[in-house]
Amino acid sequence: MKPWLYPLWLAHRGAGKLAPENTLAAFRLGGDFGFRAFECDVKLSRDGEAFLLHDDTLERTSNGQGSPAGLDWAALARLDAGSWHSPPYAAEPLPRFAQIAAFCQANACMLNVEIKPCPGDEARTGAAVAREAARLWAGALPPLLSSFKPEALAAARDAEPALPRALLLEELWHGWPEAAAALDVVAVITDWQLMDRALIERLHARGWRALVYTVNDASVAERLIADGIDGIITDAVDRLGPGSS
Ligand code: G3P
Ligand code: MG
Repeated sequence: MKPWLYPLWLAHRGAGKLAPENTLAAFRLGGDFGFRAFECDVKLSRDGEAFLLHDDTLERTSNGQGSPAGLDWAALARLDAGSWHSPPYAAEPLPRFAQIAAFCQANACMLNVEIKPCPGDEARTGAAVAREAARLWAGALPPLLSSFKPEALAAARDAEPALPRALLLEELWHGWPEAAAALDVVAVITDWQLMDRALIERLHARGWRALVYTVNDASVAERLIADGIDGIITDAVDRLGPGSS
């Protein structure tokens, strides 16, 4: 396996659930808890701005409505992405990918960028996020680009072949090893319930690192660390993380 320079612990969506997910405030809180690696979800506005949002629609985590794919960044930038969480975060905006890149580089943090396309936007999102990542991290330890969508990862590979990629799996679907090989990944990231010592060893034998999402239980983390896991994505930034293992 190639050298692996990323930390073991990654804070999910910035700081999991203690701050509004996928906002700069969440990254700051995760950093305050000692995290030096983060996962976040990135998609594109109608006019091609890369920004952070998990869902295909705006309602759950902002005061917007409908699909973000139908709005330009100028409209998305005016939304409140914090009030839904709690009053201290009122008026927290949706962050541009570029702002998160600046935060990570200023604080020597590693980023796992989950390419999270709006439906039908897989190839455009994969290519644009990869190009933006290459531009933003030029010369620095690059972010790990991941996706559940092979089409998005293929577009990222074609746009910026040198950026590291990881295939995300919520189930071990037929043909996933062949897909991972074709995408020339450096890692496979699975639901933690799919991961065990045998799968870790199988991944390592292929030269792929083994990561899991989303582990919020200390005993699960201990078992996976004993089994040789390379990365753990967690919501529980106040209970698990760099200080706990
Ligand atoms: O990066 C994988 C992790 O984030 C799990 O997926 O749905 O929380 O973005 P999701
Ligand atoms: Mg994610």
